[in-house]
Amino acid sequence: MIDSARVVIALPGNEPLAEALALRVGAELGRLTLRAFPDGESYVCFDSPVEGRSVALVCTLHQPDQRTLPLYLSACTARALGAERIGLVAPYLAYMRQDARFRPGEGVTSVYFARLLSGCVDWLVTVDPHLHRHRSLDDIYRIPAVAVAAAPAMAGWIAANVPDPVLIGPDEESAQWVAAVAAGAGAPYVVLEKRRHGDHDVEVSVPDVERWRDRTPVLVDDIISTARTMIAGVEQLRRAGLRPPVCVGVHAVFAEDAEPALLAAGAAQVVTCDTIPHGTNRISVVDVLAPAVRAIAVATTAR
Ligand code: R5P
Repeated sequence: MIDSARVVIALPGNEPLAEALALRVGAELGRLTLRAFPDGESYVCFDSPVEGRSVALVCTLHQPDQRTLPLYLSACTARALGAERIGLVAPYLAYMRQDARFRPGEGVTSVYFARLLSGCVDWLVTVDPHLHRHRSLDDIYRIPAVAVAAAPAMAGWIAANVPDPVLIGPDEESAQWVAAVAAGAGAPYVVLEKRRHGDHDVEVSVPDVERWRDRTPVLVDDIISTARTMIAGVEQLRRAGLRPPVCVGVHAVFAEDAEPALLAAGAAQVVTCDTIPHGTNRISVVDVLAPAVRAIAVATTAR
């Protein structure tokens, strides 16, 4: 049954996920017109009523600089039109990797980005944000913020599609995802050691992996951006005599030539979750997102 007090609205490019989510959470699917004026400024108009309603905006945040201002203006518009609560479903949450001042003078932009979003929406649900030096979203977000794990969905895909897998995390930061996915898929896992020297310069060392030569290696990471992390892993595993690895990422950021470069390095297949629309999407996160969205919308409305 559809609850007319709740409406899910996609920002451009997020329509399929918003539609699936509205269906799963029993909310109405609303519409928003968002387009650029000739001078590049954004035009925002809610085509569905939002006054007195709980509004969930769906906006994944890859290439965040071009998406954040339209999102901010949309949230402000919903507020001005009298929305009762405004939530953000951002399957990919940007700016999480700049979580410390690595060099003097740098900005810790994860904190400033969190401040901006916390000022315009009432709650946030995302999928596997890159939590490393920030231990939880609550460290930087001032609104109720929930991170759901794609691990069950990834484990299901691997169990159904990869014979005799051994899961491989490219670095220590990936251990948290790899262990959870491996447990769900009933597979063993190992974690490599990574040293990043620059945006495109990554080195990994492979511990004792020769004993997994009779299994299919599955490299698992949260983000594939330049793919240099995955590429270094693929090259080392091939050198160690393992089969061509399947590469599974949560977030298909794919900067520049990342996907063809990863295939050229010897990946057997590249597969991602649909947190960012991309040709490699094979794993849906809607079933892990929907319960969290339903719960947080109810909890924040009741307060
Ligand atoms: C970093 O710690 C992340 O978990 C990923 O390994 C990293 O963001 C991947 O980036 P790239 O594809 O540019 O190597």
